[in-house]
Formats: sequence, structure tokens, C-alpha cells
Amino acid sequence: MIDWLILDREIKIWIQEAGERIRHSLQNKLQISTKSNPNDLVTNVDKDTEQFFIEKIRSTYPGHRILGEEGGGDEITDVRGVIWVIDPIDGTMNFVHMHRNFTISIGVFGDGVGQLGYIYDVIHDELYSAVKGKGALFNDQPIPRLEEVSIEKAIVGMNPIWLTNNRRIDPEYLRRLVKDIRGTRSFGSAALEMGYVACGWLDAYIAMHLSPWDFAAGWVIVEELGGKATKLNGEPLSLLEKSSLFVAKPGLHQVILDNYLQNYVEKN
Ligand code: IPD
Ligand code: CA
Ligand code: CA
Ligand code: CA
Repeated sequence: MIDWLILDREIKIWIQEAGERIRHSLQNKLQISTKSNPNDLVTNVDKDTEQFFIEKIRSTYPGHRILGEEGGGDEITDVRGVIWVIDPIDGTMNFVHMHRNFTISIGVFGDGVGQLGYIYDVIHDELYSAVKGKGALFNDQPIPRLEEVSIEKAIVGMNPIWLTNNRRIDPEYLRRLVKDIRGTRSFGSAALEMGYVACGWLDAYIAMHLSPWDFAAGWVIVEELGGKATKLNGEPLSLLEKSSLFVAKPGLHQVILDNYLQNYVEKN
């Protein structure tokens, strides 16, 4: 039997240490390279931070497996056992351009069930965390359970790119959503935006193409608070595939699915 509360204490110490290293690294020139396209950035700090966690996990929990964005972990094709899902820096573009509004994001799953979630806003020193069944915290303060909100009062996080022509949805539906809600916000870190949903500062967050390391931590935290996290067609998320993401307060999730997303087609 795994004592998730012991892991919780340990992970929080590691996250503080990693955060300190990242803040310190901003005093030096970043080594920036690109991945799949010229806007897909990665730095030496993304890679070093992933390696920092991998070394901690391998030496403390050698039986656990790791799924990390920068590829230092394991090839994961099933969800058996304990899997750590790590995004060492979520919001690398913010990290490079703004030196703020990026997070460390870590979800820990046992046999496919989300048990622990951590989203650490490194510059603001703000940690969103949850232990399944034990509630969620913002720093040391319990986060209240999410309450219902009407569509007219909702603030929805989304990237404006999805209002342009795309293969997944007729943008007219999303433009109608944007008109019907109170406002939109775009922060450039999926994990941070899920933290904002957890705290009730955003009522929903929509993204069309994410990877498990972007949403693993937020998935655990938001669901612990009674929120919903699914794909944009309402289907369950998976640790084994890239997908869209739709997180929202209870009630609002169904209203948006039924009225604005019914023509959404999931595509890679
Ligand atoms: C990105 C951020 C961003 C989202 C991208 C992700 P990264 O993660 O979460 O908000 O729009 O799709 O890839 O690459 O900065 O870890
Ligand atoms: Ca990336
Ligand atoms: Ca990410
Ligand atoms: Ca990343």
C-alpha cells in the first residue's frame, strides 16, 4: 500500500528546491532551442529541471515510472503501477519571453487513477496541490469546492487561435461562446490555467491540443474540487494520448458541451 501523504510531503520539498534552481537560473543567459516548429521552444532549464525530478524519483522510488515532456523518463504504453507525469516547465514561451507565468506541473497516478497533483507558479511562489480524497490546497490554504456559475457570468480561458479556421470545430460556435460569456483570458500555461479553474478564478479552460504532462496535475486538482476535466467532446482524458482538454465548474461543463461544442471533432 502506498502512503500518498508521505509522497505528498516529499514532492513538495522537491518542488521548492526545483523552483529555487529555476529562479536562480534566470540570472544567467538561457540556452534556447526549438523543437517541432520555430515557436515550440525548449531551454536548458526545462531539461535540467526534468532531470532533477527524474534523479530524485529514481533514487527514492526505483519501481515508479516517469512520463516527462523532455523525454528523460520512460516509454509509457500502459497505466499500471505508479506513474509520475512531469512537465518541468509548462509555459516555456512565457518563461523565455516574460520570465514569469510558467509552472512546474506534476501529477502522480496509481494504476491510472490520479492520486496527487501539483502546479507550482515558480515566480509567484504559489502552489496548487491536491491529494485524492483529502482536498486541495492553494499554498497551505484549503481551496473551497467549486460552485455552479451561469454562462453569462463565466470567464473562460482559451487561446484566441481557436477562433480562427481550424480542422476541429467551426469557429462560429466558439465565437458564439465568446459573445455569451462574461470574458475570456489567455495566460499561456495550460497548467496555470487549470490552477486558476481550481481556485474559481477562471470558470472554464479550453484547449484543443495538449499532452498528458500539460493536464495531469490539473486533472487531479480540479476533480478533487468537484470540477470536470474531459476532452472537448466530453470523453475521458487519458494518460496515454495527446488530446483536447475542457475543464470547467460543475454544471457549466455540461452547458458548454451541449450548446457550443456539439460539433467538435477530436483530431491529433
Ligand atoms: C504549452 C503550454 C501552453 C499550451 C501549449 C503547451 P509547454 O506547454 O501549456 O499554454 O497552449 O499547447 O504545449 O510546451 O510550454 O510546456
Ligand atoms: Ca514544450
Ligand atoms: Ca506543457
Ligand atoms: Ca514544458
